[in-house]
Amino acid sequence: MLLELDHVTKEYIRGGKKFFALNDVCFGIDKGDFYTIIGRSGSGKTTLLTVAAGLAAPDSGDVVFKGKKYSELSDRELSAIRGNGIGFIPQGLGTVPDLTVIDNVRLPSFIYPEKADDTRALAILEKTGIADLAQSYPNELSGGELKRVLIARALFSQPEILIADEPTADLDRLTTEEIMKLFSELRRDGTAVLLVTHEMDTIAYGDKVFTCESGRLTEGKQ
Ligand SMILES: Nc1ncnc2c1ncn2[C@@H]1O[C@H](COP(=O)(O)OP(=O)(O)O)[C@@H](O)[C@H]1O
Ligand SMILES: [Mg+2]
Repeated sequence: MLLELDHVTKEYIRGGKKFFALNDVCFGIDKGDFYTIIGRSGSGKTTLLTVAAGLAAPDSGDVVFKGKKYSELSDRELSAIRGNGIGFIPQGLGTVPDLTVIDNVRLPSFIYPEKADDTRALAILEKTGIADLAQSYPNELSGGELKRVLIARALFSQPEILIADEPTADLDRLTTEEIMKLFSELRRDGTAVLLVTHEMDTIAYGDKVFTCESGRLTEGKQ
């Protein structure tokens, strides 16, 4: 398995009361799998992706990437996985306003200088359909174009798994289809894709759908 969640729980406190944002979640995804997760707002989807990407630690259970438990890795090893193994597309907008599109995509190379590579950044901009915007600034872009910048950034590190949190929310149908086709291509090249989505149309692109409800994950469309 490429990435596994083994009996993962995560508790938060709301209104002075503890509740399970993730409740005994078991899940696995392998190279070339394209899985989608649906579920109502507040059901724990973003928490699940954040924990899976190593951006937040679970309270119990293990997250295992290529046989290694996050909890047993040093900060350095975990950042290497976050920087190379996993491409994360956060919910909402996350571009840096003072950087051009191409520099937003190359952002990981500021953190990991060995990744500095303009040719590759441009190739990814081609692939995501925004090469002509390379020198533009985020405030000059539409919502769909901004999403593509985030997708391009997540791809820049050539991740083994792409984790995307509602990347097509607020996008028109055509743009959504283009992005889904891009994800399908990636998966054909062996990248695993884990997609949280609200749009029922998009689950057809994946091989399996999971439903998140009150922090529990079950296979199938509930
Ligand atoms: N940092 C936090 N502290 C406390 N509660 C949180 C935190 N993050 C999320 N929550 C709560 O956990 C639940 C799950 O949130 P989230 O994972 O964002 O759901 P979804 O992505 O499915 O909408 C929600 O009730 C949310 O309010
Ligand atoms: Mg969410």
